[in-house]
Amino acid sequence: MNTPRRSSPPLRSPEQRRGDPGTTPRPSSPPLRSPEQRRGDPRVSGPLILGIESSCDETGVGIVRGHELLANEVASSVDLHVRFGGVVPEVASRAHLQAMAPTLRRALATADVDLNEVDAIAVTAGPGLMGALVVGLSAAKALAVALNKPLYGVNHLIGHVAVDLLDHGPLPQPCAALLVSGGHTSLLAVGDITSDIRELGSTIDDAAGEAYDKVARLLGLAYPGGPVIDRAAAEGDPKAIAFPRGLTASKDLVKHRFDYSFSGLKTAVSRWVETRRRDGLDVPVADVAASFQEAVCDVLTAKAVDACEHLGVDTLLLGGGVAANSRLRALLEERTAARGIALRRPRPALCTDNGAMIAVLGSEVVTAGLPPSALTIGADPGMSVSRVVA
Ligand code: KG4
Ligand code: ZN
Repeated sequence: MNTPRRSSPPLRSPEQRRGDPGTTPRPSSPPLRSPEQRRGDPRVSGPLILGIESSCDETGVGIVRGHELLANEVASSVDLHVRFGGVVPEVASRAHLQAMAPTLRRALATADVDLNEVDAIAVTAGPGLMGALVVGLSAAKALAVALNKPLYGVNHLIGHVAVDLLDHGPLPQPCAALLVSGGHTSLLAVGDITSDIRELGSTIDDAAGEAYDKVARLLGLAYPGGPVIDRAAAEGDPKAIAFPRGLTASKDLVKHRFDYSFSGLKTAVSRWVETRRRDGLDVPVADVAASFQEAVCDVLTAKAVDACEHLGVDTLLLGGGVAANSRLRALLEERTAARGIALRRPRPALCTDNGAMIAVLGSEVVTAGLPPSALTIGADPGMSVSRVVA
């Protein structure tokens, strides 16, 4: 993840920002049931897992029991990075250090859980920023040692896929997954989510979220660009400008049927905007945003549906920060429905980085009986998507 980027809590006012040099706690994700309701519910079962996420600029602590979400607390340092137009690794690491203990306390209070009750600690081992990962991993190791609980270092990317279990229950096996985040864009064949993940294809240059962030920047919009472009596009015409669809020509499909490329699209948007400015014309931001978004979503969805047909699976799972995108969700729904493919999309609040996705993946790994990670595991910034547990 050379160019990390991040999801978007509502930006705070300059006054709020000046008064607070640290991270911004996000409201926890409702609806959570009260402890009384849960205790009386015989459906609730599974291991009680604490999940810690710190791969980029969100400090996330989630608590789940099996597939039930008990708490999902996130503190974002995005405000500290806005003026740089991208995440500054050293700033992110320090913000994780400050936010870790308070975020953990909030999660335990929300879930009404005592640390001693937890069955295991799951933590993001990679991929991500080295310094940021190390903070979460150190916190998780300290908890595992102090509480004498097993530690599971898990893959952040698979967490994005697993999070849907919290909303829609067990996954049919096998299925396909479209993973679209700020650092990665991949099509996956998912057998067993704890042990059998195969990458069919991935981006050969920019990730989808990265393209959103870069295009937002050249349009003079705020960071992170995904949510801002999503909103601007709602007012624009997606057919206004015919931007290119990367790796869709028949000659490209031979070698790159399930791969993506967004850097040509980014350059095309940049040239189009420059030409308008040079000619002294206004840039119709909403139309550019809508046309760019249409090009991204058209290719993402067409190849995802093709992958399902190629694999012979009838379920497609969507995951990662860009999965919160309204057009991507709608177009994928339309195209999967037309082919009789069931689409599973986590609620938008669970798409961007959080601790619940790590906790629920930990729950799957514990339930599958996989051995815990060694306490000596290191952070793995380039962790391969096919490796679920470190
Ligand atoms: O998965 P994520 O939270 O972090 C990584 O693991 O990279 O994804 C962050 C990315 C950012 O590039 C952000 O611009 C994008 O997700 N994103 C969106 C939307 N919300 C977040 N992109 C498009 N539309 C959105 N609504
Ligand atoms: Zn992520």
